[in-house]
Amino acid sequence: MLDRSQDPANDGYQLIRRAPLASRTTFDVPAVAAWLAELTRPQALPELLARPEFRDLPRLVLGGGSNVLFTRDFDGLVVALANRGIDVVESAEEVDRVRVSAGENWDGFVRWSLGAGYVGLENLVLIPGSVGAAPFQNIGAYGVEVETFIESVDAWDHDAARFVTLQREECAFAYRDSLFKQQRGRFVITSVLFRLPRSRPLCLDYAGVREELAAMGVTSPTATDAASAVERLRLRKLPNPADIGNAGSFFKNPVVPATQARSLQASHPQLPVFHLEDGSCKLSAAWLIQQCGFKGYREGDAGVSDKHALVLVNHGNATGAELMSLAERIRNAVRESFGVGLEPEPVVL
Ligand code: EPU
Repeated sequence: MLDRSQDPANDGYQLIRRAPLASRTTFDVPAVAAWLAELTRPQALPELLARPEFRDLPRLVLGGGSNVLFTRDFDGLVVALANRGIDVVESAEEVDRVRVSAGENWDGFVRWSLGAGYVGLENLVLIPGSVGAAPFQNIGAYGVEVETFIESVDAWDHDAARFVTLQREECAFAYRDSLFKQQRGRFVITSVLFRLPRSRPLCLDYAGVREELAAMGVTSPTATDAASAVERLRLRKLPNPADIGNAGSFFKNPVVPATQARSLQASHPQLPVFHLEDGSCKLSAAWLIQQCGFKGYREGDAGVSDKHALVLVNHGNATGAELMSLAERIRNAVRESFGVGLEPEPVVL
């Protein structure tokens, strides 16, 4: 039985005691939060967090739940952002500034931007999760990372006990990383200010995109065409969380020194290697995992997708602990075979 308290004094949030979390995460594994606060008005945060029952509890912010794995119950307060709104705050000839509430669905926002005639977010279509989670993870796909379009991020800063606005340069954005991820627990992202261009060259160089456009019969693609191509690629290559529990890529692509990449390529000429600006190399984790025989592998209900070796899946009743033990086996196998360490991409609790 849920114990929902919604007394009128709690303006801006709803509290749920002993809240089941499975359906709030895309991995769909069982876990219960001691408390869950659904926040519709971010301004209510200070009052919520100051409540005596929450003051000393661990806290966790949940966006769309697409990048988190619970391995056990959470004996603390989960804050779920449910604020909504997309506002064009300034319109100029070439670039508009658009403020989006953290609780908005990411894919919904991308489609809104395409419908409104903006160019830039098309390669980021169909990424599960919320707008507030996008900067946390610096989401990226098909050669584009969200940081390119972020001007600033509004957040509640626990340490300073005030609302802050962080400019893009202050967010320490890197590959699937940010200040928010590095200092997990410090910030609650409440909205994001984007700079959305009205025109911009499309980014079609990532493997597969041009081929997909050609297969669609498109010769001079628009942003919407690029989004359709990416959508077709994603639906074919990645398991859909609506069909099977998963959190997208479970591991980051490892970055290694060029010397190590060269010696690995000498013994494994097929290994995909991407050269980075700083001289280091990013290796394909999916390829390494597939070589170790894990693609489509299954231990009970915890498995590796048969569509993409980088994605762990819940076939139905896997627990977070079972998925983690499978992840550990994969890490060990890749380390033994290739001497490369893999780092999980989702937040594991
Ligand atoms: N590959 C395999 N086996 C597989 C899948 C891929 O060997 O099962 C090899 C292929 O050689 C392929 C290469 O890996 O050419 C790269 O595959 P893909 O294009 O799918 O990209 P990825 O590096 O595996 C990254 C992101 C994805 C994003 C895609 C497309 C990370 C950790 N993952 O995957 O992001 O959709 O590129 O841009 O960077 C996510 O972060 O959750 C996510 C799905």
